[in-house]
Order: sequence, then C-alpha cells, then structure tokens
Amino acid sequence: MLKQDLVLKKDKFFEKIETLGLALSYGDVRLRTSHSEIAPSQVKLSSRFSRRVPLKAPLISAPMDMITEHKMAIALAVSGGLGIIHRALKPEDQVKEVSRVKFYLNGLIEKPICVSPKDTIAGVLKMIKEKNYSFRSFPVIDVKGKLLGLMSSNDIEFCPDNNYRAGRVMTKTKDAVTAKGAISFKQAYDIMRKNKKKILPLIDKQNKLVGMYVYSDVKRIVSGGSPWLNIDANGNLRVGAAIGVGEDAYERAGMLAERGVDVLVIDTAHGDSKAVLETLKQLKKDYPEIDIVAGNVSEAESAKRLVQAGADGVKVGQGPGSICTTRVVAGIGCPQVTAIYNCARALRGSGVSICADGGIEYSGDATVALAAGADSVMLGQMLAGTNEAPGEVFMRNDLPVKKYRGMGSLAAMQESQAAKERYGQKYSGQDKLVPEGVEAVVPYKGAAANIIFQTLGGLRSGLSYTGAADIKELQAKADFYYISSAGLSESHPHGIIMEKEAPNYLGRI
Ligand code: XMP
Repeated sequence: MLKQDLVLKKDKFFEKIETLGLALSYGDVRLRTSHSEIAPSQVKLSSRFSRRVPLKAPLISAPMDMITEHKMAIALAVSGGLGIIHRALKPEDQVKEVSRVKFYLNGLIEKPICVSPKDTIAGVLKMIKEKNYSFRSFPVIDVKGKLLGLMSSNDIEFCPDNNYRAGRVMTKTKDAVTAKGAISFKQAYDIMRKNKKKILPLIDKQNKLVGMYVYSDVKRIVSGGSPWLNIDANGNLRVGAAIGVGEDAYERAGMLAERGVDVLVIDTAHGDSKAVLETLKQLKKDYPEIDIVAGNVSEAESAKRLVQAGADGVKVGQGPGSICTTRVVAGIGCPQVTAIYNCARALRGSGVSICADGGIEYSGDATVALAAGADSVMLGQMLAGTNEAPGEVFMRNDLPVKKYRGMGSLAAMQESQAAKERYGQKYSGQDKLVPEGVEAVVPYKGAAANIIFQTLGGLRSGLSYTGAADIKELQAKADFYYISSAGLSESHPHGIIMEKEAPNYLGRI
C-alpha cells in the first residue's frame, strides 16, 4: 500500500524538475527498467475510473462525436475498459446509446420492451423494424404492468394473419415459464435450460413484470464468455456518459441516471470553473448513488477543488490532445506528464481517481501516464479511424481514412451546442466562434479490439520491464528519466526506411 507520507523516487524527480521551472510531457520522459520477476502475461491491469467504477483494463474512450457512441463503448467494455458516450447528441439520443450498451449482454433486462394484448402482429412487426430490435419475443402486459403472457418469435412467424392481436397468439402466463422476484443469472440459466426456454420473465407477487432474462446472454455470461467483460451488478456492460453544466446537464443527468448509466462525466475544457463546481455539487446532492468524474484540469489546486465539490474522479488534460489547439490559441496549459503527476500527488489518499485525458500516441505513453499517477487513460486519436468510431471510411491520397476532429473545432462547434458550451462559447454566433481544435483524418485502422489489444500488450510489457505486478506497484516504484531530443529520436525507429507498419506503430505522423 502506498503511504501518503512516503517520498517516492518520482517525487524527488518531479520536485527537481519543478525547481528548474520545467514541466514535462510524454516525449520528455521514459521509465527506468528494474529487476523483474513478473512476465507480461502475469501483469494485472485492473484499476478504477472513479471511486465505485472499476476497470479490468485502464482504457477509456473519449466522449467525442467521432469516437464514442455505443459501438465503441461496447468494444471498450468487453475488453475491460469503459466508453463515455459523447454529448453532442440530443439527450434522448444519448440515452439510446447508453441503452444499446446496456442491452448488449442483457444479463438482466430491468425494463423489457413489452407489447399490449391489443397490439396486432402487423403493429409489432412495424415496431421491430422502426426500432431496429434484434429480438422478436415480447412479454404481453396490461396497463398496470401485469404479465398476461408471452409472445415468441414462433407466435409471430406462424401466425396465419398479421391482423391477429398479441392477446390471441401469446402463451398465457399460467402456461408460460416465469420466475418470482430477483433471481441470479445462474438460477435463470438453470431454469431456462431445464425448460428449453429462450426468455424468462420475472414477476412479483401481484404478477407484475419486474424484469426478464434472455438465454443467449445469460449463457454467454455463465460460460464465462470473456473474463474481461466490464459488467455491473446486473451483468450488463458498464458505460459512462458526458454531460456539461447547468440546466442541460441536470436534464441529461436525470435521463441518464434513470437508464442506469454507471458514471457521469462533466466534460468541459475548464473544469476549475464556477459553473462546473456548482453543477457537480448539485448533481452529487441529486444523485448520490452515481459516481461523477469532472474535468478537465491540469493543476493540483484545481483537482483539489473538484474533490471538495464531490468529484469521484478527476479528468486531467488541458491541451495535450492530438486535435487540440487550446495551448497555442489560448497560451495556457501544463504539459501532460507533469499535470498528471501534480494532480495525482494532490489527491493521494483521497480515494478519488485520476484519468489522464489526451496526448496518448503510443502504448508506452499510457505506461508513463499510469506511472505518473493516473488510474486510467482516455484515448481519442488512438481509437479514431477504427470500425467502431462513428463515420465512414473514404479514400485520401489512395489511403483509406476516417475523419477525426476536435470538439472545439469550427465544424464541431457549428454543429453542436454542447461542443460550443465545452469551450465557453454557448452564446456565440456561428460566425463568431474561436476554435480550439482542428478537423483531421486518420488512417483507417480496422477493429478497435486490435488497438485495445496492442495497447494493453504494451502496458503489460511496460509494467514487466519495471518489475511491477500491477498499476499500484508501478506507481509506487516508478523512476523517471528526463530524455533529450536525441534520446527521443533514438527511442523511435531510425536510420531505416520503414517498409511495413507494425500493428502498434504506424510511424511518426
Ligand atoms: P487524443 O490525443 O487522444 O485526445 O486525440 C483526446 C482528448 O482531447 C480533448 N479534446 C480537445 N481539446 N480542443 C482541445 O483543446 C479540442 O477541440 C478537443 N477535442 C477533444 C478531449 O479531452 C479528448 O478526450
């Protein structure tokens, strides 16, 4: 365990750097290797995004409109990380994205989609098409929520006339297999297997529908599927959502909380501002059961103020991002490694976690971020250009690419009120915007799972080289070198003409 008063090697290093008036970023440092009895495969990468939101892998996808909607959030959560759904979406659309992540495994569906006994088969088929549902079995309930029966895909398929009503084709509750109250997914699995049923509605004493299990999902969980799944107590994938400040944030937070979001992220360019602190305090009062991560900040005092206002996690990074121009436009911001270290040191012992947001180009940068004190890293550019990132693949100079842009870029702000608000320009006219980001393209990269795999592989390797079995040990042991530009050049491939990109090294773009 890390003692608060323990002076670590990295403390001495960063203190010395500070006395020189310097602040460092990823390209400035590397970690010392050390005797190791830990093979990369033995390294544990579990961590936390916030006080009560655990991670099996310390990777978070950025809440940006070209990075995180449900597909990316699912890719992260099935690999042990977490996706944060962006907020340049209408509140109801953002909630839908959260639902899609929550529905993906469906350990327990708390609010199953139901039909009324009066609905016709034609009406149900229309709903399935419109809502793009992948399932075709529905509980049939009355207006008070009482379960009347079950309508299965066979009932729909073999119905002679699509004008028949659900009440006519369903299997009545008394003849259907149901379970009473809260049962675990293991019990549900046994019941469904024994009775060869694909869905299992849960009812209370008054026969009201209180939930439902789906066999394929329960089977996937029971059989262990992947040990990496980052799932909540109900067996659903974890997911976060970004919000802003003030009234819009309160409205979104209410809708997202109702849908079971695991963590809210107050995502702004200036986290140490009155509006953020007030919103945070209010939301902690309104939703004490939900963790709130707030940011972004880059100074120790700012991180402390967020914790005093109730933050369960602090997001660090002002201007390190690949598509950011904040530092050059506004002339502010602390280089990222020093920012992470200072904020993490200020919060040592508080139980509040740090997410290092922006500027991670290679997996080795993630190792450095965690060593400096971050509990997780947030990725934009590294995940941009993957299948799961919103947007199409197109050709640029004979190369397949996808778009990636800053939320403070002109186009993002012109298209979204939330993006304008993130940069304090909510009330500025479309022709009076001052961008703090750029629009770009990145090479098409295929499945996000490959990027995640390589990043975690690099992290494992990094911990193994430093002799650390887990992230806490890395943070306690980390010993930094300040490197020169010659040292950085030496670190990258040099003196050769690269013939083929490696899956974890596309070259220096
Ligand atoms: P990477 O380097 O992973 O960074 O692409 C992603 C992070 O950058 C932040 N972000 C911005 N910062 N102007 C900025 O100054 C912008 O337009 C912008 N858009 C995103 C954000 O914190 C994200 O997670």
